Amino acid sequence: MTVVVTVDGPAGAGKSSASRRLAERLQLLHVDTGAMYRAVALVAAERGVGLEDDGALGRLLEGLRFAFDLGRITVDGRDVSEAIRRREVGELASRVSARPVVRRRLVALQRSLAASPGVVMEGRDIGTVVFPDASVKFFLTASPGERAHRRALELHATGQTVDEAALAAELARRDERDSTRAVAPLRPAADAIVLDTSTLSLDDVVAEMERVVRARTALPGG
Ligand code: C5P
Repeated sequence: MTVVVTVDGPAGAGKSSASRRLAERLQLLHVDTGAMYRAVALVAAERGVGLEDDGALGRLLEGLRFAFDLGRITVDGRDVSEAIRRREVGELASRVSARPVVRRRLVALQRSLAASPGVVMEGRDIGTVVFPDASVKFFLTASPGERAHRRALELHATGQTVDEAALAAELARRDERDSTRAVAPLRPAADAIVLDTSTLSLDDVVAEMERVVRARTALPGG
């Protein structure tokens, strides 16, 4: 049986760090679907493809080959792992991810990545759309101030200067767009476990997630 653990939530809620560690502890594959939307946005912008031009986006996606290995993402053989973390790419990703033509292709790719023994997949619609029958679903959230602070630290670590207030406004705009779009809006699945990580340490969050997954699945080693 393939174990599928979904981790959804807004930007800066701690999904990536928690998902990566949880996958390590459970020895499952970790897939960051936000990286896929970011990669499409990056390549579209570089090639001058309009982010609202569905025809051109569809043709672009048909030709792209994505590969994921050891936490790196390559597109047509080029490693874009650092380039997609640039702040403006998050904004472009939020725009391009609202296009059904993009979601169709990436959702198919995401479903194809669930292989035995299992996967921890993070994003916005993983528990609602990509894997509605997942073994365990989490929805991570945190206060807007805390999320902006965490994202600022992350950007800072990669040498990008940030004004935290401007970043908070940007995240709020992105969440609003992600939550109100017509296709696959950001929202917790009805059967998701909602964890507010505002006052929890990463260790606490991962420990709680691991406890729940082990209690609900037959993964070995618990
Ligand atoms: O998670 P991350 O901030 O890297 O995602 C970038 C953008 O990609 C999000 O703001 C969202 O618009 C989009 N996204 C999505 N569905 C997913 C993952 C990410 O729409 N499953």
